[in-house]
This record gives sequence, C-alpha cells and structure tokens, in this order.
Amino acid sequence: MYCCRKVTDDLYWVGANDRRLAMFEGVYSVPRGVSYNSYLLLDEKTVLFDTVDAAVGEVFFENVDHVLAGRHLDYLVIHHMEPDHSATLAELLRRYPDVRILCNKKIADMMKQFFTFDADKYTELVAEGDTFSCGHHTLTFVNAPMVHWPEVMMSFDQTDGILFSADAFGTFGALNGALFADEVDFMGEYLDEARRYYTNIVGKYGPQVSAVLKKASALDIKMICPLHGFVWRRDIGCYLDAYTHWASYEPEEKGVVIAYASVYHHTENAAEALAIRLTERGIRTVMFDVSVTPASEIIAAVFRYSHLVLASTTYNAGIFVNMESFLYDLVAHNIQNRTVAVIENGSWAPTSGKLMRALLDNCKKLTVLDETLTIKSSLKEEQLPALDAMADAIAATFAEA
Ligand code: FEO
Repeated sequence: MYCCRKVTDDLYWVGANDRRLAMFEGVYSVPRGVSYNSYLLLDEKTVLFDTVDAAVGEVFFENVDHVLAGRHLDYLVIHHMEPDHSATLAELLRRYPDVRILCNKKIADMMKQFFTFDADKYTELVAEGDTFSCGHHTLTFVNAPMVHWPEVMMSFDQTDGILFSADAFGTFGALNGALFADEVDFMGEYLDEARRYYTNIVGKYGPQVSAVLKKASALDIKMICPLHGFVWRRDIGCYLDAYTHWASYEPEEKGVVIAYASVYHHTENAAEALAIRLTERGIRTVMFDVSVTPASEIIAAVFRYSHLVLASTTYNAGIFVNMESFLYDLVAHNIQNRTVAVIENGSWAPTSGKLMRALLDNCKKLTVLDETLTIKSSLKEEQLPALDAMADAIAATFAEA
C-alpha cells in the first residue's frame, strides 16, 4: 500500500523508511532506521526529485503511482548518484520510459558508471545557475561538489522557497509518521543522530559544506527537503547554525571527550580518575570505550566538544587495535580546532602515547598538551599528582578559551 505525505499543496513526500538495515553504508549502525526521501511535484509538468534505495523500492513505486494518479512522470531531477538514492533508477526508467532526467554532467557521467542503460537518451544536462520552469514553479540548480560526492547538486524552488538539499541537512532515523522536524522534539531527540550523520558522512568536507552554506545564505529558504530525515519548515536557522559549527570544525560546546582503550580495566581506571577530576573542576566530561562504542558515535562527540583525551594501552608494541582504528577514522574526518591530552599504558614498553601523538600530527590545528601520563600496568597512588596536573592543564585551557 502506498504510504506518502503532502509537503505543500502540490509537493509530496514519496520516500520510504528502512528499519531493518543493520549498517548504513556497511559502516554506520542505524538502530532507529533510516529514511530515503524522494519528493514528487505536481505542476504543469510532474517532477520527481531523486529515487530511493533498492531495499524500499516496492513502496516507493506505489507512492509515485498513487501521487501521479494516472499522470505521466515528465521529469526526474537527480541530485546525487550514491545508490541509496539511485539504485531504483533503472526500474523507474522501465516503468516511466518517457521521463526526462535533469542533472549535471558529473551526475550523467556517474550514471553511466553505475548503469548500462543509454543515459544520454534520457538526460538533459543542467549547470550551476540554470533555471527550469515546471509551470508554476521555477527551479534553479546549485552545484554542491563534495557534499559529500563530487557530482552532488541541489535544486531551489524559487516559487515556494524550497531547497532540495541532497544529503545535506539529513539525519539518521526513520520517519515514524512525522515528516517535518517541527512535528518531533528534534533538538532534544534527534540532534545527536543528525550530528552523527553529518560528522561521519559529510564531516571530512567542511570547507565544501561552508561554501554551499554561503551560497544558501543568498537564497530565501523557507523549507529544506533533504534526502534523509526530516523536512525543515520552521526554525531553519537553528539547524543552519549547527551546520555552520560542524562545517567550520568549531566545537558546539566546551567539554571533554575521553576515549579510552583498556584490556583489563587499568587504562579505563585512569580515564575514570581523570574524568572525576575534570568533573570536580566543573568541566563537562563524557567517556567512551573505543572497544564498545561505535566509532561513529565517538567521532560525533568529538565534533561536539572542545577537548579530547585519548587513553590507550600498548598492544603488540603499538596502539591498541580499536584505538588505532578509531584514530585513523578521526584523522580521516579532518577533525580540527581541538585540545588533546594523552594517557598511555604498557606493562613493559609503553609506546602508545608517542604513536597516538604521531597519528594526531596528521590533523590540522590541534593543540596537543605536553603532559602525557604514562602508566605501567596500573595507576599508582604516586601518579595521582600527575593526573591532577593533567586535569589542571586541561582546566587552564578552558579558562583561556
Ligand atoms: Fe544518502 Fe550520499 O547518500
């Protein structure tokens, strides 16, 4: 059965939700599911904005058929060729063989990489700033390269002020009846997932996101329709503000993330002893065991807070494997503008501190504190002053900021 919602008088959400997907992109757990958004405009011309993942194709095609109500599908706008939005494209063309595809050249080229149909036969290329009249509505096309693939573009409906923003402004989480962000407690219940979505999927490309935000600031945006998650029609500014922080790598708030790797709880013990000292100094502190918490959650927390403490045991003369994996992931996401402290452990040759510092050298604009606390097997009474000194050093940077 079709399952769709009206966005405006003539625009419909015809996407679908997947609550059974274990790992989005094979990497990110999505315990609350994910939505694949597609929108259908009924103007003088009918225009579909993107398709959906293959997993939800059945209900998507029912939705499109239902909303079209016997009309032809005239145009498909493709904003992004990643298969979670394009896997059903060939089937769409089989069902609607007369549809014309509006996309930029990079999208057209990528279409030929993913599919074997004659893409040129269907495609009408558009470029930055081009306009397209659907009848009452006029679309303008805006390229958004590397947000987060090179071919990405957005469309702006000048008539209703709607930005079709591709992956930008999306969030993990299925839509449980609510389509609009103002129908849920977004800031209370969904901002964490939005941050995890942004930082992990798009976070590496802050400068490119900033460039698109700059372009968007020139538009009179009244609504944002992303490819995942909620449609924004109220309080858009607060979400734009969050994006501005994330894209600039500026922390949203002061606080310390302690990410630790501990085999027999001794490194964890030191991390907890530091967490207590930081909290007693009035510093908000959150802790993650890198062997338990998915890296995507820790990366989102690192984007949120101003400080990071890495505590790792030494393992096979290197960094403990889960910490090393997390750090490579963090470096790949281009984290910047953070203050970092290091705790190392090792029963005979602690080297993880030096090695973690070397990995952090690949990041820009990190301040790594000189103090490294070295533990041999377990924290001892005589090391507590050193732990206090580390807490003081971190607290001093809070005072400076
Ligand atoms: Fe939701 Fe980049 O695909």
